[in-house]
Amino acid sequence: MYFGQSDKMAKKKTDKNNALRPAAEELYKEELAQLAKEDTGQKPPNWLLSPPAVVQYILGGKLKSGFEIQPKYFGNQQLIEIAVATLVTDRALLLTGIPGTGKTWVAEHLAAAISGNSQLLVQGTSGISEEALRYGWNYAQLIAKGPSLEALVPSPIFVAMQQGAIARLEELTRIPADIQDALITILSEKVLPIPELNSKVEAQQGFNIIATANNRDRGINEMSSALRRRFNTVVMPLPASIKEEVKIVQTRVAALSHTYKLPVKSVPLQEIERLVTIFRELRSGITFDGSQKIKSPSSTLSTAEAISVISNSQALAVHFGNGKVNAQNLLLSMKGAIIKDPKLDTPIWEEYVETVIKSRKGWQDLYES
Ligand SMILES: Nc1ncnc2c1ncn2[C@@H]1O[C@H](COP(=O)(O)OP(=O)(O)OP(=O)(O)O)[C@@H](O)[C@H]1O
Ligand SMILES: [Mg+2]
Repeated sequence: MYFGQSDKMAKKKTDKNNALRPAAEELYKEELAQLAKEDTGQKPPNWLLSPPAVVQYILGGKLKSGFEIQPKYFGNQQLIEIAVATLVTDRALLLTGIPGTGKTWVAEHLAAAISGNSQLLVQGTSGISEEALRYGWNYAQLIAKGPSLEALVPSPIFVAMQQGAIARLEELTRIPADIQDALITILSEKVLPIPELNSKVEAQQGFNIIATANNRDRGINEMSSALRRRFNTVVMPLPASIKEEVKIVQTRVAALSHTYKLPVKSVPLQEIERLVTIFRELRSGITFDGSQKIKSPSSTLSTAEAISVISNSQALAVHFGNGKVNAQNLLLSMKGAIIKDPKLDTPIWEEYVETVIKSRKGWQDLYES
């Protein structure tokens, strides 16, 4: 609480229902409880659900009782099965792929379903220290009492080892290679030595790590082959078809509308379809009917970006427009996502407008905007 702030304000600030982005285990508490109740499969030690129930939580479906589980991830079932099966073994899981393919999203939901806690998270950065992966010290305590357990500040990975839970490591390849290697002992020996205390933490069963790394960052910091061997890598693909991608955008935008208090029906399906078509065409360098080659801009144009473009046009339409997303709001939001490098991308975008949008049936409003 800030000084001078009333109790009422403080309460409002910390109210869980007001959190901008509640944790997955909080948001889907009911689903997880119902899955656990009906789960007849065998649970690995310290797992809250059996592996098939975890997969069902991620992919959605109907339970025996008729209870409906919302799909979180749209895509290949096998891919999720491989990910879950990896976590049962003593190998860690590495989700890679281009930005915006749902790596972080899937990692969070996996941790929520398996351990009931998706918040044991280390964010990889280039300036990270080994302490962030292992443990640090509370220096006031350290000076007062010397090295002791009370003075030790455990990292989320340390806590996960003690609890037999899943730890998440975001953007693994942003971490310099020599620091990444601190993970090798943790993953192969399943212990974390604490030489200062002449002690160690032994990982409890159920402990594992889900790391994410995006392809485009590769080359900044390669993983050592010793570390790579300790991970099973799953590559997250872009959605296979327009239909699937539209469905993902539609579902996520509906969920976000709820959070941002924007009416869901302010987004016509047709506008999502147009945006996804444009993104897919620019990404692949060819029109969807295969009739025309086009140039691709430097931007990623991932599903995640399509989601934010639609949310953005929705906010424009609701607050400054006529309440429904139209060609004009869409275009305003879209340009920022497509043109990342004005020098390179502007001519590519202009060419696309003149050669594809101009002549496409039913897209005149977009061209005129
Ligand atoms: N196949 C998919 N199914 C469901 N949601 C998806 C899918 N692909 C992307 N998304 C959505 O895209 C958004 C962004 O995904 P996420 O942040 O996990 O991407 P990422 O792969 O971690 O990207 P980055 O490499 O930039 O960190 C999420 O809201 C997620 O719901
Ligand atoms: Mg991510």
